[in-house]
Amino acid sequence: MSEFDTTLIHGGGVDDNNTGAVNVPIYNSSTYKYPELLGQVRWDYARSGNPTRESVERLMAHLEDGSGAYAFSSGMAAIHAVFSIFKPGDHVIIGKNIYGGTFRLINEYLKDYGIKFTSIDTRDLDSLEKCIQANTKAIYFETLTNPLLQFSDVKSIGKIAKKHGLLTIVDNTFLTPYLQKPLTMGADLVVHSATKYLSGHSDLMAGVVVAKDKEVGDKIYQAQNTMGATLSPQDSNLLQRGIKTLSVRMDRHIENAKHVIEFLKSDPKVAKIYYPGCDGDANFDNIKDQCAGFGGVLSFELQPGLDVKGFINHLQLFTLAVSLGAVESLAEVPAFMSHFEIPKETRLQIGIKDELVRLSVGIEDYRDLIKDLEQALKFA
Ligand SMILES: Cc1ncc(COP(=O)(O)O)c(C=O)c1O
Repeated sequence: MSEFDTTLIHGGGVDDNNTGAVNVPIYNSSTYKYPELLGQVRWDYARSGNPTRESVERLMAHLEDGSGAYAFSSGMAAIHAVFSIFKPGDHVIIGKNIYGGTFRLINEYLKDYGIKFTSIDTRDLDSLEKCIQANTKAIYFETLTNPLLQFSDVKSIGKIAKKHGLLTIVDNTFLTPYLQKPLTMGADLVVHSATKYLSGHSDLMAGVVVAKDKEVGDKIYQAQNTMGATLSPQDSNLLQRGIKTLSVRMDRHIENAKHVIEFLKSDPKVAKIYYPGCDGDANFDNIKDQCAGFGGVLSFELQPGLDVKGFINHLQLFTLAVSLGAVESLAEVPAFMSHFEIPKETRLQIGIKDELVRLSVGIEDYRDLIKDLEQALKFA
């Protein structure tokens, strides 16, 4: 097995390349020829599998140390496939602080199909264990939560899950396998919105599920093939291209985020910064060794009474947009944008205030990013 940075470049590929092309071709074929009736074929129909998608799926399986990976047309399609392996009456414990779209999937769809959920702060291991019931099947959480950057202890949660025979399912969108590999720490399934850091250029929607064991992986494959929200050959190619530069991009995101945090700390208009190690999180010392860094997303609150709208509307280099993890810097207000699906009362309980701002720090020159924040803060 090669080192991570080498796997990023060489970890995909399928073995049918007779042309010497250094990139995997984009196979624009929905169907594949049988040599004869009942003959054996490796690919028969592109929803079931195609070489371009298989290449990026292999790459993701290598990068996450999984037995198999499954690429979907969005992160939500990937998450839906994961939940589809449960049956009416099954109970799943869910991290309290989760992406708004996942919250909506659970509360507006899956509950109607008879799957039961308990939402809990997964940093609180005692309370988490107390939520386990006879019908509990899994614990689902985001390692580093969106948008408050709260960090959950994958190793300890994995141990609790194992003790009770449950699956541990981790949304690893914010960290990526470059910073953390949950399957090596006790998780059974990892999901990604590959729309974010993995593709890295805000030019496609994609989702990936990676399974540790083949048995659970087969269930995900079944869901992928049956429900059909698969990643197209063109987008599989774009995703694979994006993944090749994951580590170099991520190093710069992290470096730039450090500079932006230093600046925000020095500005009296900023009341609180949310980034691991910044918010006085008692959990931080225990878990900081579980990943190699925390990525380029951070959130902050302005001092009470300041004008968030004035600030955000005057940003010039940061684009006012949802999403994260791409080369360009983005800013948004979760309460009105990425997390608007969560009812206000629940949102405030979780800690997402109306004046919380989330930044996805890109890979531009950090001095320009700081200049932009500095000038926009004058309007707060
Ligand atoms: C942590 C997390 N998980 C899942 C998703 C959903 O992914 P997608 O937008 O690719 O469907 C998002 C989207 O923002 C996210 O931030």
